[in-house]
Amino acid sequence: MVPPSPNVVRQRGQVSADERAEVLGQRGAVVWLTGFSGAGKSTIAFAVERALIDGGFMAFVLDGDNVRHGLCADLGFSAVDRDENVRRVGEVAGLMSEAGVIVIASFISPFREGRRKARLAAAPGRFFEVFLDTPLSICEQRDPKGLYEKARAGQIADFTGISSPYEPPLDPELVLASGTLALEACVEQVVDMLSDAGVLKAGR
Ligand code: ADX
Repeated sequence: MVPPSPNVVRQRGQVSADERAEVLGQRGAVVWLTGFSGAGKSTIAFAVERALIDGGFMAFVLDGDNVRHGLCADLGFSAVDRDENVRRVGEVAGLMSEAGVIVIASFISPFREGRRKARLAAAPGRFFEVFLDTPLSICEQRDPKGLYEKARAGQIADFTGISSPYEPPLDPELVLASGTLALEACVEQVVDMLSDAGVLKAGR
């Protein structure tokens, strides 16, 4: 994003990423979960957060339904509003990871371009896109919030998978068959991915 005025100039602090990592015993990262409503994003995000905290790492979930009660309460579900939702959250996730937190972002984030920009908001190599590859038919069968039923009945407009598109990732860091894979196995795969990438090492 370009600042609105040439009079807006970046300010430099005194603390380096290495110093922050030393204080915290970890470096931040962004785990970005994308997929249909009902794919298991929130459930997996909170379970990964639990596992990381239990393992002694500072982790925090940014979840679509929660963020839309505050930071993004002014946004709806048009393509423009979803882009803005994902842009804001991508920036917040990038900042929080710069501060040293392992952020687990859980958003439908249906558009590739929005997810690409969210990746750019994080430091190189610190963004992990995870595709929750639960087929729409299973999400609709689960329908945990009864939203698919309402969308089919025409009571919710622009519903992802029904009346609004979803662009699956082309080259994600991880694909989870979250429609059939047990929750524990999904969590294990995410944690293993972070471990293999060197994120879960003290001071790294
Ligand atoms: S995103 O597309 O902008 O990334 P986000 O993840 O924040 O979406 O919010 C999705 C949540 O909002 C869903 O889990 C669902 O509970 C709720 N929701 C309400 N209306 C819609 C809609 N039209 N399409 C998708 N989700 C909706």
